[in-house]
Amino acid sequence: MTPPLAGKVALVTGATSGIGKAIATRFIAEGAAVVVADIDEAGAAFLAEFDTAQAAFIRCDATNESDVEAAAQFAVDRFGGLDIAVANAGKGTFGLITEHSLDSWREIIDLCLTGVFLTVKHAGRVMRDGGSIINIASLNAIQPAEGMAAYCSAKAGVAMLTKVAAMELGHRQIRVNTIAPGLVETNATGAFWMMPGIVEEFVENTTVGRFAQPDDIANLALFLASDQSSFVSAGFHSVDGGAATKRYPDLPGAFARLADNAGL
Ligand SMILES: NC(=O)c1ccc[n+]([C@@H]2O[C@H](COP(=O)([O-])OP(=O)(O)OC[C@H]3O[C@@H](n4cnc5c(N)ncnc54)[C@H](O)[C@@H]3O)[C@@H](O)[C@H]2O)c1
Repeated sequence: MTPPLAGKVALVTGATSGIGKAIATRFIAEGAAVVVADIDEAGAAFLAEFDTAQAAFIRCDATNESDVEAAAQFAVDRFGGLDIAVANAGKGTFGLITEHSLDSWREIIDLCLTGVFLTVKHAGRVMRDGGSIINIASLNAIQPAEGMAAYCSAKAGVAMLTKVAAMELGHRQIRVNTIAPGLVETNATGAFWMMPGIVEEFVENTTVGRFAQPDDIANLALFLASDQSSFVSAGFHSVDGGAATKRYPDLPGAFARLADNAGL
Protein backbone atom coordinates (compact mmCIF):
# COMPACT_ATOMS: atom_id res chain seq x y z
CA MET A 1 0.00 0.00 0.00
CA THR A 2 1.25 3.50 -0.79
CA PRO A 3 1.95 5.41 2.43
CA PRO A 4 -0.35 8.42 2.92
CA LEU A 5 2.38 11.05 2.58
CA ALA A 6 4.28 9.46 -0.32
CA GLY A 7 5.59 12.14 -2.69
CA LYS A 8 4.89 14.98 -0.27
CA VAL A 9 7.43 17.39 1.19
CA ALA A 10 7.03 18.81 4.69
CA LEU A 11 8.63 21.56 6.75
CA VAL A 12 8.36 21.24 10.54
CA THR A 13 9.66 23.98 12.85
CA GLY A 14 10.92 23.19 16.34
CA ALA A 15 11.35 19.60 15.24
CA THR A 16 14.41 18.33 17.10
CA SER A 17 12.44 17.71 20.30
CA GLY A 18 9.05 16.75 21.69
CA ILE A 19 5.96 17.20 19.57
CA GLY A 20 7.79 18.54 16.50
CA LYS A 21 10.22 15.62 16.50
CA ALA A 22 7.35 13.11 16.79
CA ILE A 23 5.54 14.78 13.88
CA ALA A 24 8.66 14.89 11.70
CA THR A 25 9.45 11.24 12.48
CA ARG A 26 5.88 10.14 11.74
CA PHE A 27 5.79 12.07 8.46
CA ILE A 28 9.03 10.40 7.34
CA ALA A 29 7.66 6.98 8.30
CA GLU A 30 4.54 7.70 6.27
CA GLY A 31 6.47 8.54 3.11
CA ALA A 32 7.14 12.29 3.22
CA ALA A 33 10.46 14.05 2.73
CA VAL A 34 10.86 16.30 5.77
CA VAL A 35 12.86 19.44 6.51
CA VAL A 36 13.50 19.70 10.24
CA ALA A 37 13.92 23.41 11.07
CA ASP A 38 15.20 24.25 14.56
CA ILE A 39 17.73 26.36 16.44
CA ASP A 40 19.11 23.23 18.14
CA GLU A 41 21.70 21.83 15.72
CA ALA A 42 22.88 19.13 18.14
CA GLY A 43 19.31 17.92 18.53
CA ALA A 44 19.21 17.12 14.80
CA ALA A 45 21.51 14.12 15.38
CA PHE A 46 18.47 11.81 15.39
CA LEU A 47 18.14 12.39 11.63
CA ALA A 48 21.22 10.21 11.07
CA GLU A 49 18.96 7.14 11.20
CA PHE A 50 16.98 8.30 8.16
CA ASP A 51 17.74 8.30 4.45
CA THR A 52 18.98 11.73 3.29
CA ALA A 53 16.48 11.45 0.44
CA GLN A 54 13.76 11.82 3.08
CA ALA A 55 15.18 13.97 5.86
CA ALA A 56 17.23 17.15 6.12
CA PHE A 57 18.01 19.71 8.82
CA ILE A 58 18.25 23.47 8.50
CA ARG A 59 19.15 25.79 11.33
CA CYS A 60 16.19 28.13 11.57
CA ASP A 61 15.09 30.58 14.23
CA ALA A 62 11.32 30.67 13.77
CA THR A 63 11.27 34.32 14.88
CA ASN A 64 13.74 35.40 12.19
CA GLU A 65 12.08 36.17 8.86
CA SER A 66 15.07 35.48 6.64
CA ASP A 67 15.67 32.14 8.42
CA VAL A 68 12.07 31.06 7.88
CA GLU A 69 12.05 32.20 4.27
CA ALA A 70 15.28 30.26 3.70
CA ALA A 71 13.86 27.14 5.35
CA ALA A 72 10.80 27.13 3.09
CA GLN A 73 12.98 27.68 0.02
CA PHE A 74 15.37 24.95 1.21
CA ALA A 75 12.50 22.45 1.15
CA VAL A 76 11.75 23.39 -2.45
CA ASP A 77 15.40 23.31 -3.54
CA ARG A 78 16.25 20.09 -1.75
CA PHE A 79 13.10 18.03 -2.30
CA GLY A 80 11.40 19.72 -5.28
CA GLY A 81 8.45 21.49 -3.64
CA LEU A 82 6.53 22.00 -0.42
CA ASP A 83 3.17 20.41 0.47
CA ILE A 84 2.99 20.49 4.27
CA ALA A 85 4.15 22.99 6.88
CA VAL A 86 3.88 22.55 10.63
CA ALA A 87 4.42 25.73 12.67
CA ASN A 88 5.34 24.03 15.91
CA ALA A 89 8.23 25.96 17.52
CA GLY A 90 7.05 27.45 20.78
CA LYS A 91 7.64 27.72 24.50
CA GLY A 92 5.91 28.99 27.61
CA THR A 93 6.76 31.11 30.61
CA PHE A 94 5.23 31.90 33.98
CA GLY A 95 4.54 35.38 35.33
CA LEU A 96 1.55 37.19 36.76
CA ILE A 97 0.63 40.14 34.54
CA THR A 98 1.43 42.77 37.15
CA GLU A 99 4.91 41.26 37.57
CA HIS A 100 5.55 40.22 33.97
CA SER A 101 8.45 41.98 32.21
CA LEU A 102 7.80 43.42 28.79
CA ASP A 103 10.85 41.57 27.44
CA SER A 104 9.45 38.22 28.53
CA TRP A 105 5.99 39.06 27.12
CA ARG A 106 7.55 40.01 23.77
CA GLU A 107 9.72 36.89 23.69
CA ILE A 108 6.71 34.58 24.02
CA ILE A 109 4.53 36.51 21.57
CA ASP A 110 7.45 36.63 19.14
CA LEU A 111 8.01 32.87 19.11
CA CYS A 112 4.50 31.52 19.68
CA LEU A 113 2.55 33.94 17.47
CA THR A 114 4.89 35.88 15.17
CA GLY A 115 6.89 32.72 14.50
CA VAL A 116 3.71 31.00 13.32
CA PHE A 117 2.84 34.01 11.14
CA LEU A 118 6.28 33.85 9.50
CA THR A 119 5.97 30.12 8.87
CA VAL A 120 2.51 30.48 7.34
CA LYS A 121 3.70 33.45 5.28
CA HIS A 122 6.78 31.85 3.77
CA ALA A 123 5.50 28.29 3.51
CA GLY A 124 2.29 29.66 2.02
CA ARG A 125 4.23 31.53 -0.68
CA VAL A 126 6.02 28.49 -2.06
CA MET A 127 3.56 25.72 -1.19
CA ARG A 128 2.06 23.67 -4.00
CA ASP A 129 -1.70 23.91 -4.51
CA GLY A 130 -3.56 21.40 -2.36
CA GLY A 131 -1.09 21.69 0.53
CA SER A 132 -1.71 21.63 4.26
CA ILE A 133 -0.53 24.00 6.99
CA ILE A 134 -0.80 22.92 10.62
CA ASN A 135 -0.32 25.42 13.42
CA ILE A 136 0.40 24.09 16.90
CA ALA A 137 -1.47 26.16 19.47
CA SER A 138 -2.47 24.82 22.89
CA LEU A 139 -5.35 24.08 25.22
CA ASN A 140 -4.44 27.55 26.49
CA ALA A 141 -5.81 29.08 23.28
CA ILE A 142 -9.24 28.52 24.80
CA GLN A 143 -8.57 27.80 28.48
CA PRO A 144 -7.04 30.61 30.55
CA ALA A 145 -4.26 29.85 33.01
CA GLU A 146 -3.23 32.26 35.76
CA GLY A 147 0.40 33.24 35.26
CA MET A 148 0.41 32.41 31.56
CA ALA A 149 -1.01 35.56 29.96
CA ALA A 150 1.60 35.82 27.22
CA TYR A 151 1.38 32.16 26.22
CA CYS A 152 -2.44 32.06 26.38
CA SER A 153 -2.69 35.26 24.33
CA ALA A 154 -0.22 34.05 21.72
CA LYS A 155 -1.94 30.68 21.35
CA ALA A 156 -5.40 32.30 21.07
CA GLY A 157 -3.87 34.46 18.34
CA VAL A 158 -2.66 31.35 16.52
CA ALA A 159 -6.22 29.99 16.43
CA MET A 160 -7.47 33.17 14.75
CA LEU A 161 -4.44 33.48 12.46
CA THR A 162 -5.23 29.94 11.27
CA LYS A 163 -8.76 30.91 10.26
CA VAL A 164 -7.64 34.00 8.35
CA ALA A 165 -4.89 32.03 6.61
CA ALA A 166 -7.40 29.32 5.64
CA MET A 167 -9.58 32.00 4.04
CA GLU A 168 -6.68 33.60 2.17
CA LEU A 169 -5.08 30.37 0.92
CA GLY A 170 -8.22 28.36 0.23
CA HIS A 171 -8.41 29.41 -3.42
CA ARG A 172 -5.24 27.32 -3.91
CA GLN A 173 -6.89 24.40 -2.05
CA ILE A 174 -4.37 24.93 0.74
CA ARG A 175 -5.90 23.96 4.07
CA VAL A 176 -4.87 25.56 7.36
CA ASN A 177 -5.73 24.00 10.72
CA THR A 178 -4.87 24.42 14.40
CA ILE A 179 -3.95 21.57 16.71
CA ALA A 180 -4.44 22.40 20.39
CA PRO A 181 -2.62 19.92 22.64
CA GLY A 182 -3.27 19.48 26.34
CA LEU A 183 -0.48 18.29 28.63
CA VAL A 184 2.14 16.40 26.62
CA GLU A 185 5.23 14.90 28.24
CA THR A 186 8.15 16.75 26.60
CA ASN A 187 11.23 18.73 27.61
CA ALA A 188 9.05 21.84 27.73
CA THR A 189 6.79 20.42 30.42
CA GLY A 190 9.44 18.55 32.42
CA ALA A 191 9.14 21.05 35.29
CA PHE A 192 5.51 20.05 35.87
CA TRP A 193 6.69 16.57 36.91
CA MET A 194 8.80 18.19 39.62
CA MET A 195 5.94 20.22 41.06
CA PRO A 196 3.95 18.23 43.62
CA GLY A 197 0.37 17.61 42.52
CA ILE A 198 0.45 19.44 39.20
CA VAL A 199 0.49 16.47 36.83
CA GLU A 200 -2.18 14.80 38.96
CA GLU A 201 -4.32 17.93 38.59
CA PHE A 202 -3.80 17.98 34.82
CA VAL A 203 -4.83 14.34 34.60
CA GLU A 204 -7.85 14.86 36.86
CA ASN A 205 -8.97 17.65 34.54
CA THR A 206 -9.08 15.37 31.51
CA THR A 207 -12.05 13.17 30.79
CA VAL A 208 -9.83 10.23 29.80
CA GLY A 209 -7.56 10.17 32.86
CA ARG A 210 -4.09 10.56 31.40
CA PHE A 211 -1.60 13.03 29.93
CA ALA A 212 -0.41 12.78 26.32
CA GLN A 213 2.72 11.58 24.60
CA PRO A 214 4.03 13.42 21.50
CA ASP A 215 2.70 10.61 19.29
CA ASP A 216 -0.86 11.51 20.33
CA ILE A 217 -0.33 14.84 18.57
CA ALA A 218 1.52 13.30 15.61
CA ASN A 219 -1.49 11.03 14.98
CA LEU A 220 -3.74 14.02 14.26
CA ALA A 221 -0.99 15.90 12.41
CA LEU A 222 -0.68 12.94 10.05
CA PHE A 223 -4.41 13.02 9.30
CA LEU A 224 -4.39 16.80 8.75
CA ALA A 225 -1.32 16.55 6.50
CA SER A 226 -2.77 13.78 4.37
CA ASP A 227 -5.33 13.97 1.58
CA GLN A 228 -7.77 12.13 3.89
CA SER A 229 -8.53 15.53 5.43
CA SER A 230 -9.00 17.37 2.14
CA PHE A 231 -12.30 18.93 3.33
CA VAL A 232 -10.95 19.98 6.74
CA SER A 233 -9.80 23.59 6.97
CA ALA A 234 -9.87 26.54 9.38
CA GLY A 235 -10.48 24.06 12.18
CA PHE A 236 -9.47 24.13 15.84
CA HIS A 237 -8.68 20.55 16.81
CA SER A 238 -8.17 19.78 20.48
CA VAL A 239 -5.96 16.85 21.47
CA ASP A 240 -6.31 17.36 25.20
CA GLY A 241 -8.09 14.28 26.52
CA GLY A 242 -11.17 16.41 27.15
CA ALA A 243 -9.34 18.90 29.39
CA ALA A 244 -11.01 21.91 27.77
CA THR A 245 -14.24 20.86 29.48
CA LYS A 246 -12.75 21.55 32.92
CA ARG A 247 -10.23 23.98 34.38
CA TYR A 248 -6.51 24.63 34.17
CA PRO A 249 -4.37 23.60 37.17
CA ASP A 250 -3.61 26.22 39.81
CA LEU A 251 -0.05 27.13 38.79
CA PRO A 252 0.36 30.14 41.15
CA GLY A 253 -0.74 27.87 44.02
CA ALA A 254 1.73 25.18 42.95
CA PHE A 255 4.60 27.70 42.77
CA ALA A 256 3.65 29.05 46.21
CA ARG A 257 3.69 25.50 47.66
CA LEU A 258 7.09 24.88 46.07
CA ALA A 259 8.47 28.08 47.59
CA ASP A 260 7.03 27.11 51.00
CA ASN A 261 8.60 23.67 50.79
CA ALA A 262 11.95 25.22 49.87
CA GLY A 263 11.62 27.56 52.84
CA LEU A 264 11.66 30.67 50.63
N1 LIG B 1 4.17 19.90 25.78
C1 LIG B 1 2.94 20.34 25.98
O1 LIG B 1 2.27 19.99 26.98
C2 LIG B 1 2.30 21.31 25.02
C3 LIG B 1 0.95 21.60 25.18
C4 LIG B 1 0.34 22.49 24.31
C5 LIG B 1 1.07 23.05 23.29
N2 LIG B 1 2.39 22.76 23.14
C6 LIG B 1 3.12 23.39 22.04
O2 LIG B 1 3.75 22.41 21.26
C7 LIG B 1 4.90 22.98 20.64
C8 LIG B 1 6.09 22.09 20.88
O3 LIG B 1 6.34 22.01 22.28
P1 LIG B 1 7.09 20.80 22.97
O4 LIG B 1 6.36 20.50 24.21
O5 LIG B 1 7.33 19.71 22.00
O6 LIG B 1 8.45 21.51 23.39
P2 LIG B 1 9.98 21.08 23.28
O7 LIG B 1 10.70 22.03 24.16
O8 LIG B 1 10.15 19.61 23.49
O9 LIG B 1 10.33 21.40 21.77
C9 LIG B 1 10.37 22.72 21.28
C10 LIG B 1 11.32 22.78 20.11
O10 LIG B 1 11.30 24.12 19.59
C11 LIG B 1 12.62 24.51 19.34
N3 LIG B 1 12.71 25.97 19.36
C12 LIG B 1 12.68 26.81 20.42
N4 LIG B 1 12.81 28.07 20.04
C13 LIG B 1 12.92 28.04 18.68
C14 LIG B 1 13.07 29.03 17.69
N5 LIG B 1 13.18 30.34 18.02
N6 LIG B 1 13.11 28.65 16.41
C15 LIG B 1 13.05 27.34 16.07
N7 LIG B 1 12.92 26.35 16.96
C16 LIG B 1 12.85 26.70 18.25
C17 LIG B 1 13.45 23.84 20.43
O11 LIG B 1 14.83 23.79 20.09
C18 LIG B 1 12.78 22.48 20.49
O12 LIG B 1 13.33 21.59 19.56
C19 LIG B 1 5.03 24.40 21.20
O13 LIG B 1 4.46 25.32 20.31
C20 LIG B 1 4.23 24.32 22.49
O14 LIG B 1 3.74 25.58 22.88
C21 LIG B 1 3.04 21.90 23.98
